[in-house]
Amino acid sequence: MAKAGKTKSKSAQAKKEPRFAVAIMAAGKGTRLKSRHPKVLHQIGGKPLLEHVIAAATQVVPAGDIYAIIGYEADRVREALQHTGVNFVLQKEQRGTGHAIMSARQVLSGYDHFLVLSGDVPLIRPETIRELRDSHLKNKASMTLLAATPPDPTGYGRVIRKLKSGKATEAVTAIVEQKALTPAQMKFREMNAGVYAFTTKTLFANIDKLTTENAHREFYLTDMAAILSRAGERVVAVSTPDFDQVLGINNRAELARLDAVFRQRKCAELMDFGVTIYRPETCVIDAGVKIEPDTIIEPFVQLLGNTRVGAECRIRSYSVINNSEIGDRVLVRPGSIIEESRIAAGAIIGPYSHLRPGSDIGENAHVGNFVETKKVRLGRGSKANHLTYLGDATIGDDVNVGAGTITCNYDGVNKHETVIEDGAFIGSDSTLVAPVKIGKGSYVGASSCITQDVPADALAIARGQQVVKEGWAREKRGAGAKKTSS
Ligand code: UD1
Ligand code: CA
Repeated sequence: MAKAGKTKSKSAQAKKEPRFAVAIMAAGKGTRLKSRHPKVLHQIGGKPLLEHVIAAATQVVPAGDIYAIIGYEADRVREALQHTGVNFVLQKEQRGTGHAIMSARQVLSGYDHFLVLSGDVPLIRPETIRELRDSHLKNKASMTLLAATPPDPTGYGRVIRKLKSGKATEAVTAIVEQKALTPAQMKFREMNAGVYAFTTKTLFANIDKLTTENAHREFYLTDMAAILSRAGERVVAVSTPDFDQVLGINNRAELARLDAVFRQRKCAELMDFGVTIYRPETCVIDAGVKIEPDTIIEPFVQLLGNTRVGAECRIRSYSVINNSEIGDRVLVRPGSIIEESRIAAGAIIGPYSHLRPGSDIGENAHVGNFVETKKVRLGRGSKANHLTYLGDATIGDDVNVGAGTITCNYDGVNKHETVIEDGAFIGSDSTLVAPVKIGKGSYVGASSCITQDVPADALAIARGQQVVKEGWAREKRGAGAKKTSS
């Protein structure tokens, strides 16, 4: 059976594909951040450091083959990243990067090779991880490490390469930590990125040779370079010219710097996709944000969380939009704050509007100056342009909400609903005391305090009647004039 034979050889080939796992070291406390929160939960680009690393790793191996090694505040880290589908391994005591890998020995032993990433090196690119894996296999190395030469390598471990007739080769003899550098070694400017590929059997056959004889009394994974090299194993460094992606975060200044790098990358991607961003260096756009082409983002805009912005919108300066969905051709005027809300196509928001969670603004609707909304449906073409509070309300299409209108939704204990039906006209300075319903096409006279439902097509006026006292002012002035002359 020729056919069966063919299938068999194919599956045998598939079997030969070496199995790779990814271990992400994320158990450390991050002492240098001086924080009560674990380091890997600090954010850049609006996402925890560890989530960036996981996102890159899942581009290379399935989540099921990724093991995040956690320890400090492990429960919080696990909870924050459970949704990624990766596995978690506990390193109970944090006794160094070498010790982190020792704690994952059992799970990693099921793989031919594994990659090691650091939870605090968040900008690593999937292509780079793939290249590291491929050159590890190609070189038949026991350890492959990622190296780079940033302008200032201070603080990083340095890569010491084997020399051949005075020239550096790709083989590595050791990684030396900053504190252990001899004056002669200070000239080595190539840093160790903390990203490695290991051949599982060889690594675990030698890992017990690690000691804690160093400045921190820790098991350094970096010492494996010298250990394996001395044992005659192949240790190779792969260098990347893009050093931004291998920078680590150990303090707040580095956190700010990598956040800026991330946001530059994000803006560059969006511009490539057809979005205009006039001063990208002033904008703060989170990892999860999506924007359609021909939308214009003005300077000093913040787009946060999973915000979606449609095509041909204009988001004007100083607006902050968080976890919201914005349709096509929407204009957001300066200084607007929009949270967990939806804005349909063609709507105009701002300047200085505050859309709180649950605001649902219909097509071509307007929300203007100093208008606050919360849990509101504002229908198609409806307008609330000035100085208004709309909360817990359902407002139909083509409604005009006059300046200074307030839905009184809270009685001190409970919240109540206001309903305003299609085509109604609410005069300025009206208070609508909920629960209350304003019928279709009806009018509310300016400055009314509405406490009862208004039927369709009616006019409701609820305010003190105007009294005119002829000549009253003149008389008052006259009396005053007499007083001052006496
Ligand atoms: C490490 C490398 C250094 C390299 C740098 C790159 C060592 C000894 N040094 O230094 O050569 O230039 O990264 O950024 O490895 N971790 C654990 N368990 C532990 C200790 C650390 O999971 O017991 C985790 C940390 O949470 C962190 C990562 O390992 O995500 C690196 O540890 P860190 O202490 O930041 O190492 P560096 O001093 O930066
Ligand atoms: Ca680090």
